[in-house]
Amino acid sequence: MSKYLVTGGAGFIGSNLVDELIKGDNQITVVDDLSMGLLSNLPDSDKVTFIKHDITDHDFMSALLINEKFDYIVLLAAIASVADSVDRPYDTHEINQEANLNIIETIRREHLPLKKLFFASSAAVYGENPILPKVETLAVDPLTQYAVDKYATERAIINYSRLYDLPFVTVRFFNVFGPKQNPASPYSGVLSIIMNALQNDKPFTFFGDGGQTRDFVFVGDVVSAIIGLLHTPEARADVFNIANGQQTTLQQVADDLQAITGKTLNATYKEARQGDIRDSYANVDKINAFGFMTHTPLKAGLKIYADSV
Ligand code: UD1
Repeated sequence: MSKYLVTGGAGFIGSNLVDELIKGDNQITVVDDLSMGLLSNLPDSDKVTFIKHDITDHDFMSALLINEKFDYIVLLAAIASVADSVDRPYDTHEINQEANLNIIETIRREHLPLKKLFFASSAAVYGENPILPKVETLAVDPLTQYAVDKYATERAIINYSRLYDLPFVTVRFFNVFGPKQNPASPYSGVLSIIMNALQNDKPFTFFGDGGQTRDFVFVGDVVSAIIGLLHTPEARADVFNIANGQQTTLQQVADDLQAITGKTLNATYKEARQGDIRDSYANVDKINAFGFMTHTPLKAGLKIYADSV
């Protein structure tokens, strides 16, 4: 039996990961403050222990780690929205950086046994570096507090792993979509907002002309990458892009969703959002070299998503 801690485990990506982990001989502790996540995202299983708590409570998190001695730790709790971080820079720093630093420092200080720790950083660290596709060796250009804190934590993960020989790994998620993405939040990913608009005949606003590009990656593929990295001992002290490797305009993906659902989007166009990146897509050669990450074609992923809501 393996013991997992998933921070942010009631959130979109976390709960999809928990759904997969309960298929094995695992016990999973979820810590989530339910600021974005939903208790209803979690499966009703005696393999899952849910703790409603804020990861910024350092004493609480340190005690949990010391008492439970997890085999695997997956750090997904975050202010997940670039736009939200622009409004709340200090909260972003406390949640996306300091809380995670406390966790890795506790592991080091207490010499906690651990098979692997995974931290989710973001494609936002690449910023407006014009070189495409984004490859892990590119110079970073963090444009918002969100990107700054994600990058700082990513570096801390790699540095701790090297300095103290700890099994830590980090990734840069591109634009993840799929079942359980919270459509009620204005800070949710754009595809869930479009889906919500289509289903409820609500208006949708394109920030910009819709020509901005993203690398949309299906959440099931992200889960395959997380689990693969957790169980690959040589994947450590390193960072990997997690994406589909395809560049798609926001307009194109909105058109695809309209075709799949048979509904018409009531769209308006406004100015681009502050701190927004124009173009993004990933080189995924590094993660693909392991062979464990699945790549669901975009339209197939969109169909699974549409069928789930
Ligand atoms: C997303 C993720 C972020 C991740 C990053 C990695 C979310 C909420 N954010 O940021 O966690 O680190 O990818 O690349 O999943 N848009 C509209 N109308 C809307 C909402 C958004 O036009 O109502 C536009 C945005 O201005 C942006 C694009 O859609 O140009 C994507 O926005 P969003 O889904 O918020 O993602 P990112 O900002 O790319």
